[in-house]
Formats: sequence, structure tokens, C-alpha cells
Amino acid sequence: MAGHFQSLAVTFLGCGNLSSAVLDGILSSLYDSSEHFNASTQTSKVVSSVSEPILVPGNLVACVHSQGSATSLEKIYNGKDVTVLAQENVRGVKQADLVMLGVEPSVFREVLAEPGMRDALSSKILVSFVGGVTIHMLREAIYGHDASSKSESDAQKECQIIRVTPSTAAAVRGSFTLVIEEKDHPYPPQLLTKINSLFSRIGSVRNIPDSLAHVGATLASSGPAFFALALEGTVNGAVELGMDRAAALEMAAASMRGAADLVAEGESPDEVRRKIATPGGSTAVGLDLLEEAGVKWSMQQAILKTATRLGGPGLKKVEG
Ligand SMILES: NC(=O)c1ccc[n+]([C@@H]2O[C@H](COP(=O)([O-])OP(=O)(O)OC[C@H]3O[C@@H](n4cnc5c(N)ncnc54)[C@H](OP(=O)(O)O)[C@@H]3O)[C@@H](O)[C@H]2O)c1
Repeated sequence: MAGHFQSLAVTFLGCGNLSSAVLDGILSSLYDSSEHFNASTQTSKVVSSVSEPILVPGNLVACVHSQGSATSLEKIYNGKDVTVLAQENVRGVKQADLVMLGVEPSVFREVLAEPGMRDALSSKILVSFVGGVTIHMLREAIYGHDASSKSESDAQKECQIIRVTPSTAAAVRGSFTLVIEEKDHPYPPQLLTKINSLFSRIGSVRNIPDSLAHVGATLASSGPAFFALALEGTVNGAVELGMDRAAALEMAAASMRGAADLVAEGESPDEVRRKIATPGGSTAVGLDLLEEAGVKWSMQQAILKTATRLGGPGLKKVEG
């Protein structure tokens, strides 16, 4: 039976740039009454089933470390049914069905090893955004090294862990969210369906093998930052010629969206360029300059270097 709803209490463990973008996207999806979310109708490569309920996130909790962050989140989410907690991670996790872990890689261990956290996470779903941290590392942080002495009932109470990489474009529901699959830790189909249902609210969802996670994260998560740089350059040019910055930003963003939409609909980047630039025409002048300046090569190198920095296995080290 399609179309039945199930509420899902969601706690954000760490609510900085990425998690607050995801939270914003989820809130926007909840307030958008014109949409009915059905995992089977979203752009997605994740296994989904129409018999699964449509998850409706509720009881939203944002946990942060500093009082300063808590105060600014309280202002942002005032009147939006989001509870903000500072230094009360276990309390926040206890209230959740699903926990999104969005802390920096340097602190995930101490957060997951907090007294009471293991019990608070019992039988829940833990979605980790933490870059480069494997399921084994997350499990070890919660349950320690000695997994062999576990009883069957203890094992049943363990949380289900899944690695997911959204992007800050989640805030406008434009995330290309990656579900990272490790060979040794296959996800149960029901878990994938739930994650698909939830993250489809904030954009597209796709599974990616761990071996390519660093490349996917570079494209999907770092990509908007690279394109923002190009956007800034084009806007600066228009401002130099007398255009108001706000108008230039609006036009440049629409222009970038147009190129992206054409490619998403199947046109190759080369076709997009050729259809605009007549040889010897004005666009060609600009394109020639960009080629001479090595813009395409630089973008390629940015992907290589960023992915290498993310620590992808077997990737040739980029020098410089
Ligand atoms: N940003 C991206 O586009 C992106 C993309 C892919 C993956 N990621 C991954 O997502 C994670 C978060 O990235 P981000 O850019 O959102 O980082 P961020 O802006 O620095 O946010 C980190 C959050 O964690 C909180 N935090 C730190 N220590 C904590 C503790 N002990 N207990 C509770 N909360 C704590 C911080 O709270 P305070 O502000 O109070 O310190 C803050 O809310 C990282 O692991 C990163 O690898 C990020």
C-alpha cells in the first residue's frame, strides 16, 4: 500500500553548516504542502518499495557544543518546532528514532563515546555525515574494540549505521546525496528505503561504492563551492561594467542553473558551449580567454586534489 505516513523523530548531533542545511531542507519540505513524498517517485538509484511508509520527520532536535551556536540556532529556528540543545547530546539522542551525526571528524569519537550514548543509540538509526570515517570506526567508537564478547541480545540492540554525504545545497532541496556503500557492510534494503524516503525530501539520492566516495563527495559536496567561485568571477565582471551586484548575481545564478539544467536533460557540456558560441562571435572571445587561462584544466585539478585530500584509496597523489 503506497502513501501511508510514519513520523520519525530526528536529532542532529552537531548542527553546523551541513546539518543545518539538511535541517532547513527538511523543514522546507514539511511546510511545502503541494508535495507528497513517495520514495518510489523521486530521482534515485536507491532500492525503494511502495509498501514502505512515507517518513515524516518530526520532533526535530539540534545538538551543538557551544552556547553561542545554540543561541544563534534558537534565533534561526524560533517558531519552527526545532529544539536546540547545548552539551546535552545524550538527551537529544534519547528523543530520536534517527540520529544525523554532523560533527567534525576530530570529535566524532568523543561524542559517540559519551557516557550513556551507547544506550541512547540502542536500536536506532545513526546516519553519519562525517567525512572519511568508516562504519567500522563509528561502531568501534560506540561499542569499543571487543565486539566478539557480545551476546545475541546486545547485538540486536546495536544501532544501524549508514554513511551518507549530502551537500549544503540541501538548504534549497538541491542536494545530490550519496549513500556510501562499504563492501563489508551491506545495508539492509529496509534501511536504504528509509534513507531514500528521508533524503529525497532534500534532493536526489544515489548509492556509491566506498571506493568512489571521495570522488562523489568532491563532485556533489565540494562542487557547489567550485561553481560558486566561477559565479563570483562572472558577477564581478558585470559589476565592473556598471551592473548592480544583486541583479548580476540573480542573472549569473540563472545562467548557471540554465547550463546545469541543459546538461541534466542530456546535452553534453560541449554541445551547450557550441550552441551558444558562434565561431568568431562574442561568446567565443570569452571562451577562448577561459581556455587560454586554463580554467577547464584548473577545475579538473581541483577535483583531483580535493578527492586526493579526502583520502581516496589508490588515487595517484597530485603534486604541488
Ligand atoms: N560542509 C560540507 O559541505 C560537508 C560535506 C560533506 C561532509 N561533511 C562532513 O559533515 C561534518 C560536519 O561538517 P560541517 O561543515 O557542518 O561542520 P561545522 O560547520 O564545523 O559543524 C560542526 C558542528 O558540530 C558541533 N559539535 C562540535 N563538537 C560537538 C560536541 N562535542 N557535541 C555536539 N556537537 C558538537 C558544532 O557545534 P558548535 O558550533 O557549538 O561547536 C557544530 O554544530 C564533518 O564531519 C564533515 O566531514 C561536510
